Amino acid sequence: MRVLVTGGAGYIGSHTLLELMAQGHEVCVLDNYTNATPEVLTRVRALSNGAVTDYVGDVRDPAKLDEVMQNFQPEAVIHFAGLKAVGESTQKPLYYYDVNVGGTLALLHAMDRAGCKRLIFSSSATVYGDPVYLPYDEAHPTTPTSVYGRTKLIAEQMLQDWAAAQPGASAVLLRYFNPVGAHSSGRIGEDPKDIPNNLMPFIAQVAVGKRAALSVFGDDYDTPDGTGKRDYIHVVDLARAHVAALNYAQTNTGARPFNIGTGDSYSVRDMVAAFERASGVTIPTQLAPRRAGDIAAMQADATRAKAELGWDAKHSLDEMTASTWAWQSANPDGYDS
Ligand code: WQD
Repeated sequence: MRVLVTGGAGYIGSHTLLELMAQGHEVCVLDNYTNATPEVLTRVRALSNGAVTDYVGDVRDPAKLDEVMQNFQPEAVIHFAGLKAVGESTQKPLYYYDVNVGGTLALLHAMDRAGCKRLIFSSSATVYGDPVYLPYDEAHPTTPTSVYGRTKLIAEQMLQDWAAAQPGASAVLLRYFNPVGAHSSGRIGEDPKDIPNNLMPFIAQVAVGKRAALSVFGDDYDTPDGTGKRDYIHVVDLARAHVAALNYAQTNTGARPFNIGTGDSYSVRDMVAAFERASGVTIPTQLAPRRAGDIAAMQADATRAKAELGWDAKHSLDEMTASTWAWQSANPDGYDS
């Protein structure tokens, strides 16, 4: 199929491009490069020998969207383009609503104008908010506690209403848990623009000497070692979930959410120990206060994705840390290396 990938030069988008092309799909990228660099697509092309059509532009721009729709005529869209920093979303709420909600709305209008009826949406487990029970299944209440989480939930609800009103439309809502890791080549990976918010890229930057030590945000949580536990999922497994979702969207209509996680969870100290095993590098840590909004533990119930998408996670924790180390050690300054 011809697949438009918004935000395709990003961390998850670039890994998804490779999986799409490996399955014979034709891909086109729309990215405004606020959180990516064109070097990513240069490397994706080198890794795939595939044609990657790309447009520079903003998903909120109707004229740019129409240009892409008319020239590429996508049969489906995978919508990654969005902002994802939880802390920043609290400081810049209108920016997050404009991009994450407004951008999705503009995309849906453009899809309607072009007659494109399949959308795979990059959602997040943060739509669940504080756990009423664990593991989270898709029926868990959705009470997000951050602006970022609320923008993702509102976009999901827009997609539910769009798919219900649009005959033949399909919207697959993928609720990611914690993506980590990198492509086996070590040529593409996570490259945060500023100081990493997330655990794994911060650990990786400590390992290559860009950061002095990892601050452990609290060790008094109700978990076995007191540090936060999360359901980390290898980015290649996550990318493959998008290909499975695309296949699902070809034979199913309506909107449906799917948890994309492993069902396992690891603590901060588990992750540090695993990274030290993978890299052979000692990761200095210092205890710091809890981070506002953090919860003790979370993991996915991903049985729906296995049953209905025919997908489940295959990569181990050691593969997550080893692939991160391979990427970061070969690219100590990310794509600027
Ligand atoms: C993981 C654990 C921290 C950094 C967020 C978003 C989620 C998704 C993934 C977008 C927690 C601890 C972290 C550090 C630490 N993003 N930690 N020191 O908060 O679970 O999820 O990123 O879709 O939507 O909410 O991920 O990697 O930030 O934190 O101790 O320097 O690591 O307290 O327990 P999180 P994270």
